[in-house]
Amino acid sequence: MGTLNRLRLGVNIDHVATIRNARGGLHPDPIRAAQIASAAGADGITAHLREDRRHIMDEDIAGLIGGIALPLNLEMAATEEMVAIALRHRPHAACIVPERREEVTTEGGLDAAGQHNHLKPLISELRAAGIRVSLFIEPDARQLDAAASLGAQVVEFHTGRYAHSEGDERAVELRRIAEAAALAVKNGIEPHAGHGLTFDNVTPIAAIPHIAELNIGHFLIGEAIFEGLGPVVQRMRQLMDEAR
Ligand code: PXP
Repeated sequence: MGTLNRLRLGVNIDHVATIRNARGGLHPDPIRAAQIASAAGADGITAHLREDRRHIMDEDIAGLIGGIALPLNLEMAATEEMVAIALRHRPHAACIVPERREEVTTEGGLDAAGQHNHLKPLISELRAAGIRVSLFIEPDARQLDAAASLGAQVVEFHTGRYAHSEGDERAVELRRIAEAAALAVKNGIEPHAGHGLTFDNVTPIAAIPHIAELNIGHFLIGEAIFEGLGPVVQRMRQLMDEAR
């Protein structure tokens, strides 16, 4: 692995907060999880402040920024409320995701093309505050064009379809992600990827040379119940490094 080509791992700690919230107390603490992930080789921490606060809560953001040495990638919907929160805390990056209250998780990419006029001023505000803007999109050229014209510095490709398919369908989706990643780099946008990645399916995605970062949450936190968070993050890091 060349260090220049090192693929960054962003650990999404949302589901530590989900477990905490199940009892309404302070345990398990997502900031402690972020510290363990950091010590185990994570390059960043990701957290999604949802409208219904089912994962992290507002009070967690300051702790995630102040309590760990790693950059925070704050996932958020494109709303005035979330932009105001981001401007108050100034995370390293804001990843704009589509959000529907009734969904179990982020179900598809953001329609950056269709929502261009809504997104434009919000992205400008975030960028003016020095926050790196990422758009969580499907790997497709139309959405990439929109991301470029909106001034997003980063796109994160939704790997859910890849993760949940098999055989030929998975191969087609992998190709789509690889092509979109190359196109993003050509347009001066840094491509990331995430959603549904596990020990079993991460290698082909990690092998795509243009992709700079993977954001992984649910699997890591679930597997940590059995193996511990530190070893699980280390194993994911190792698989990603071996793929390069
Ligand atoms: N990236 C984004 C933008 C997401 O919304 C999510 C899910 O919250 C992830 C990555 C991580 O997905 P998973 O929890 O399936 O690893």
